[in-house]
Amino acid sequence: MTATGQRASAEVVLATRAGTGRGRITDVPGEQPSAKPFVPAGADLDDLREAAASCRGCHLYEGTTQTVFSSGSPTARVVLVGEQPGDQEDRQGAPFVGPAGRMLDRALEEAGIERGDAYVTNAVKHFKFTRSGPGKRRIHQTPTAVELAACKPWLVAELRIIDPEVVVCLGATAGKALFGPGFRVTKQRGVLLPRPPLDDQEAARQNAFVVATIHPSAVLRADDPDAMYAGLVSDLRVAAAALAA
Ligand code: URA
Ligand code: SF4
Repeated sequence: MTATGQRASAEVVLATRAGTGRGRITDVPGEQPSAKPFVPAGADLDDLREAAASCRGCHLYEGTTQTVFSSGSPTARVVLVGEQPGDQEDRQGAPFVGPAGRMLDRALEEAGIERGDAYVTNAVKHFKFTRSGPGKRRIHQTPTAVELAACKPWLVAELRIIDPEVVVCLGATAGKALFGPGFRVTKQRGVLLPRPPLDDQEAARQNAFVVATIHPSAVLRADDPDAMYAGLVSDLRVAAAALAA
């Protein structure tokens, strides 16, 4: 069988397994986990959200409450990309509704970006965690490059539909999702970067930009939260200025 034939049949197997709610893509030898077989062609955002609810593109759905897809306007000129849902987001089913979300709201307001004018999503749509401590609390774990790549088809589909003028990457993980594993938020934050091609079928988009900044939760953990917060706001102002231009 050709390589293409093998891939197609693997995807059929995976889609069938997903339909039964059992198994996972990582069970298939030689296959990279991917959301791709679950992303419907020609979908609008509501179709994507509905399909993502039963995504089994990688193992991260296991033990979570639900897929956390996105919130906000489909006609937004700015898309904010976080890392992945946290504990609160997993329970409530919406991005940035916990402590990091409150920090983000404050910084957006100060930078002059209305959260209501933005579309808010995450690089990875399921909460990755380990359980530890006496109460076995769910502790956030950073997604791997393989998990980021697995979930990227959802983000690509969202960005294709919305086609925003500015994407704000909130933290290193979101930056890596768009620019690849070599992305360093410390080096590339707070400037307008040309938006890279979303996948290997696309040439770089003209007049679309990315601004990277720290993750709002980094402010919560910082030794000097005031300085971290000021940096976050200052980076967000770069995005706000691009939108006003
Ligand atoms: N952190 C994120 O990156 N995204 C959320 O939705 C919540 C916390
Ligand atoms: Fe699908 Fe992404 Fe969830 Fe993995 S993390 S199961 S690819 S939605």
